[in-house]
This record gives sequence, structure tokens and C-alpha cells, in this order.
Amino acid sequence: MSFIEFKNVCKMYPGSNKNTVDNFTLNIEEKEFIAFVGPSGCGKSTTLRMIAGFEEITGGELYIDGKKVNDVAPRDRGISMVFQNYALYPHMTVEKNIGYGLKNMKMPADQIKQKVDWAIKILGLEEYRYRKPNNYPPA
Ligand SMILES: Nc1ncnc2c1ncn2[C@@H]1O[C@H](COP(=O)(O)OP(=O)(O)O)[C@@H](O)[C@H]1O
Ligand SMILES: [Mg+2]
Repeated sequence: MSFIEFKNVCKMYPGSNKNTVDNFTLNIEEKEFIAFVGPSGCGKSTTLRMIAGFEEITGGELYIDGKKVNDVAPRDRGISMVFQNYALYPHMTVEKNIGYGLKNMKMPADQIKQKVDWAIKILGLEEYRYRKPNNYPPA
């Protein structure tokens, strides 16, 4: 058993008729350092998002520490993801930080709320929603 096991993992985005990630099989051991390298658009971020649980796996199986996680919420996977462009705005609450990119894209407020609600729920951030990033322990 490896720490992370991809077994024929596929990702087909809605509206597409071909796999963006196609039958991907890889075993990663605990403490092993792995880098995905490839041209823009080849599916690196999609693969990472499937490990984190932000993206639905549409084929195959993904195991973390021996447990199949295809249908396990991100907050219950025991892993985290650090983004390349790391930026948290200290003067904004957690919910405003999460929604900031969408606001910048001029997405309507009701849609932003829907997406932020979803993200907060799957990440288990409900109790931090109105806190600011450095506001720990709670004031
Ligand atoms: N949410 C999405 N919906 C539909 N297609 C997407 C989505 N995200 C990425 N893609 C497409 O999937 C392919 C792989 O994208 P991505 O995983 O971001 O590649 P990489 O990180 O290797 O540059 C690209 O063709 C991209 O346009
Ligand atoms: Mg990428």
C-alpha cells in the first residue's frame, strides 16, 4: 500500500467529450517528493485538485493512506494544498478572502455567496467565516 494511489484516475470536465486526465496511475510513498511537470493545460492542476478534493473524480479510484477518497470531502482527507500564488488579505474576513477572486471577475453577489458557501462547507471553515486570517486565537 502506498500513501497516495491513483488507479486509472480520469477527469472529464462537464461539457467536454474527452478526458483531461486519462487513466492516470501512480503510487506515491509517504515522505516521497513528487513534482508534476508538463506543458500548460496538460492537467497538472486538475490532478492536484482531485487529490485535495476540489475537483470530482469522474473515473478510476484515488486512495489516501489506504482509504478510497473519491467521495470524501476535502476536510476529511487529512491533507492540505498550498497555492503557488499565496495571498491572504489580512483586513478581509475568511469569507471575503475566498470570494475576492470572483468579486474581481464581477460575478454577481448571489452567485459569489453560493460558491463561497460551498467552499466554506467542504473545507470545514464555518467557524472561521467571519474571522480575519491572523485573528487566532479568537479575540
Ligand atoms: N473548471 C474547468 N472546466 C473545464 N475545463 C477545465 C477546467 N479547469 C481546467 N480545464 C481544462 O483542463 C485542461 C487542463 O487544465 P489544468 O489542469 O489547469 O492544466 P495545467 O495545470 O497542467 O496547466 C485545460 O485544457 C483546461 O482548459
Ligand atoms: Mg496549473
